Amino acid sequence: MSARITSFEQYQADYKRSVENPEDFWADIAENFTWKRTWDKVLDWNFTEPNIKWFLGGKLNISENCLDRHLQDKGNQTAVIWEPNNPDEKGRTLTYNELYEEVCKFSNVLKKQGVKKGDRVCIYMPMVPEAAVAMLACARIGAVHSVVFAGFSVQSISDRINDSSCEVVVTSDGLFRGTKTVELKKIVDEALVTCPCVRKVIVLQRTGTSIEMKQGRDVYWSDDMQAVSGDCAAEEMDSEDMLYILYTSGSTGKPKGVVHTTAGYMVYTWYSFLNVFQYNEGDVYWCTADIGWVTGHSYTVYAPLLAGATILMFEGIPVHPDAGRFWQVIDKHKVNIFYTAPTAIRSLMAAGLDYVKPYKLDSLRVLGTVGEPINEEAWVWYNEYIGKKKCPIVDTWWQTETGGILISPLAGITETKPSYATLPLPGVQPAIMDSSGKEMPGNDVEGNLCIKFPWPSIIRTTYGDHERCRQTYFDSYPGKYFTGDGCRRDADGYYRIIGRVDDVLKVSGHRLGTADIEDAINHTEGVVESAVVGYPHPIKGEAIYAFVIYSDTEHDFSKLKQDIIHNVNNLIGPIAKPDKIQFVKGLPKTRSGKIMRRILRKIAEGDAGNLGDTTTLIDPTVVEDIRQGAEVNQE
Ligand code: PRX
Repeated sequence: MSARITSFEQYQADYKRSVENPEDFWADIAENFTWKRTWDKVLDWNFTEPNIKWFLGGKLNISENCLDRHLQDKGNQTAVIWEPNNPDEKGRTLTYNELYEEVCKFSNVLKKQGVKKGDRVCIYMPMVPEAAVAMLACARIGAVHSVVFAGFSVQSISDRINDSSCEVVVTSDGLFRGTKTVELKKIVDEALVTCPCVRKVIVLQRTGTSIEMKQGRDVYWSDDMQAVSGDCAAEEMDSEDMLYILYTSGSTGKPKGVVHTTAGYMVYTWYSFLNVFQYNEGDVYWCTADIGWVTGHSYTVYAPLLAGATILMFEGIPVHPDAGRFWQVIDKHKVNIFYTAPTAIRSLMAAGLDYVKPYKLDSLRVLGTVGEPINEEAWVWYNEYIGKKKCPIVDTWWQTETGGILISPLAGITETKPSYATLPLPGVQPAIMDSSGKEMPGNDVEGNLCIKFPWPSIIRTTYGDHERCRQTYFDSYPGKYFTGDGCRRDADGYYRIIGRVDDVLKVSGHRLGTADIEDAINHTEGVVESAVVGYPHPIKGEAIYAFVIYSDTEHDFSKLKQDIIHNVNNLIGPIAKPDKIQFVKGLPKTRSGKIMRRILRKIAEGDAGNLGDTTTLIDPTVVEDIRQGAEVNQE
């Protein structure tokens, strides 16, 4: 069976087979890889514990599948095109041969530093080829990488390092982002004060910023790379051996470490990449996602390299030096497939067509979006001015926990509809649930989105706390994986993702937990309690509104605001900075002490005229105070 879907009829036939006979279906797809030993059994699962295993007994290494197996035919083909933040700085390219050698060398560096199979390594890096090299090297020696987005700050790194007891951190002196330089090593140094588990820090020199190197702990990337061989046999991994941990925010508590394992993740990300983007040999593919997010893991690094593609890695931001940068880079490198977030499209649309007009964009064949709902206006603009109405747009829905794209058009094959993620990929069985917890069959229904059968790259556990995984994803609807999203299936059977139904925010496509932000705000002296909600924002999709109760003695509100912002920056990172802060005397709480966020959301949205039932509140007068304060805040 060919893994590549080439027509809508084939999609329908493959989908049918994947539901009727999932094990044979996925076994056929898995045949496309290099296995050190083939599996004994394709699937073993239950969604109650949960316990999910794919390709049981199989032995393999994903880095071998990303690199070694391409060397004979594609050794001299470009694997990575690197485009730096500053357009005047010379970029770099690495062929598959060169990438292989770098990965082998860095694997040997990790080994030399005492990293063994199963050990956790934290990667806190800019978007430079070495970031991908570090990930692949971990995979090659069987170490588990935990990439932390380089926009997160001290406390977030420290929490993540400690949660999975990483012994080694790979970082750089600093990074360039637009006109800013961020001193990454300095942030790591501060974080490590509270991380006794870290033995070694490997530091890449990128910005030349002066840094302190702690004797016995810190080593330079370049020094170590000179002293090792360019060969390193790939460790034999079990299909279900951990590949990586990626921390993500939920409704409650600290971010949790989503665990992905080796074989299922490899098979599914490759299969989805090939079909969603209709990747053709020789295509130049650019996913703008940072490696700190799951899109960066699955579709900037692993899936396209598994497919032997030429990937573009971009260090900068869409508006530096101006809002034409994406389009300039597309022309410069003749990008064929371009995958980005709706928030970027909206901000570039707002900048105006003068930034688009100078560029031809004629190499583009397929466009993609990910991370948040795309509004119709942005979809139409993307289609008209970037795709010139010739490029199918794939609106891909998925999550950190799903590992790969679950609902999406297949480019040029599935008829698209603006703001619809359209149809599930083969192997994906969605269910829309009503408020009583029953599945709603048929079309023209709206409710909570679940998936009722495992696909190969589904989350296996949350690191160190399996019970949390069960409770978060498998408890709400017994026997089903709950996504946390609301969804509509229209009369044509097309899926439209409406957004989160829990307390998770998507701010500029970044996933943030309200509890996390509240925690950071509550650390501020003079703050008694806070509640954070999202409200619609024309560019960011969603923005952050914080309602803050202050202590009786605190009256310098402008200082308190500054302190709150400082704390959020320092504890989480600038991406979590509240857009609006309103000081209040009380929060709308039920008798059981639960904050009624529904009311706060309405007020934040500026729709306070219609607050619904407030009779269950301990003190309904609080609402009126907040409402009046909000009017002042919005003036
Ligand atoms: O709410 C959905 C939204 O992003 C959430 C997952 O966030 P994260 O784990 O950070 O992964 C983002 C990249 C895969 C989902 O629960 N989301 C993701 N893609 C879409 C989307 N919402 C609407 N349309 C999408 N295409």
